[in-house]
Amino acid sequence: MRPTLPPDLLGPELLARLDTVADVRRDPVHGRWDDPQARALLADATILLTGWGAPRIDTDLLDRAPMLGAVIHAAGSVKGLLAEEVWHRGIAVSSAAQANAVPVVEYTVAAITFAGKRVFRLAHDYRDGRWLGPRDGEDAGNNGITVGVVGASRIGRLVLAALADRDMRLLLADPYVDEETAATLGARLVDIDTLCASSDIVTLHAPALPQTRRLLDDRRLGLIRSGGVVINTARGSLIDTDALTRHCRSGRLDAVLDVTDPEPLPASHPLLSLPNVLLTPHIAGSRGNEVRRLGAYAVAEVERYLTGQPLQGAVSHQDLARIA
Ligand SMILES: NC(=O)c1ccc[n+]([C@@H]2O[C@H](COP(=O)([O-])OP(=O)(O)OC[C@H]3O[C@@H](n4cnc5c(N)ncnc54)[C@H](O)[C@@H]3O)[C@@H](O)[C@H]2O)c1
Repeated sequence: MRPTLPPDLLGPELLARLDTVADVRRDPVHGRWDDPQARALLADATILLTGWGAPRIDTDLLDRAPMLGAVIHAAGSVKGLLAEEVWHRGIAVSSAAQANAVPVVEYTVAAITFAGKRVFRLAHDYRDGRWLGPRDGEDAGNNGITVGVVGASRIGRLVLAALADRDMRLLLADPYVDEETAATLGARLVDIDTLCASSDIVTLHAPALPQTRRLLDDRRLGLIRSGGVVINTARGSLIDTDALTRHCRSGRLDAVLDVTDPEPLPASHPLLSLPNVLLTPHIAGSRGNEVRRLGAYAVAEVERYLTGQPLQGAVSHQDLARIA
């Protein structure tokens, strides 16, 4: 991982826990494999504890690590980290994506609450000198609204759970989920077109995959009712940015976007100045004190691995085609 990460990620308590179960070679923490000291560590390493900034684990590295049994990644996706060879050698892989889901869910629930109440528009109006308190007949509020969740991913499932006791109707679109599973998640399973046509708020939680590229294109954005809200904490590639810009510019749709395509948007991009759009710089995932949650998850995985228990964040090769 990048050498400056461990104080946020692990801190003294988690490092002490690691020290009780393993011989931890952490001084210095390595962000590259091309120095002899880092390479020497590989000869008897049984676990690699990786995090943001970790160099790719490729065949050359694996050849130098004959004892390696597990890669425990204290971050989300492992897709960019692992060469195909890791899977062929039967090395166990774990990711802390479940822990990284927590702040994204918190962000999403906050975004739904504020967007439904038109907080972003009204705050903007207030800043511009227009004080608009409650008015009769306004299209605002979260009572009885329909929220469409795209993707029963780790994050999507937790969002559904967090909304379960609200006065909201929940829809779910996910080709990998059946009606029964959707029902246990508190949602009605629908196809993506129906979800767009029936939701007041559409929130995206599917991974970036070839099948999800521009999932919300101009046509589907057009199915969302006038006054509807699009929330994207997933990946920018899931939305046709030009089409969304048109729908937001005309005032038909509001949006909360933590991710965009391209990312970041150019400074002159119209989405950045619209009163009905809130843009944040890809911060829904773990940051600040939330990073320690990833470390705690990874340390617990190391403990489980060393005591022969199943890994809770286990990632398998066959999952890759449908996960983040
Ligand atoms: N903004 C941030 O900081 C941040 C942080 C973490 C994750 N993310 C993003 O959030 C999204 C969800 O992450 P996760 O870890 O919960 O994902 P995940 O890996 O748990 O998602 C996998 C699941 O997505 C569903 N899915 C797959 N293809 C789908 C499709 N075509 N339509 C609908 N659903 C589909 C399936 O149920 C699959 O099992 C990803 O796009 C991820 O990159 C963003």
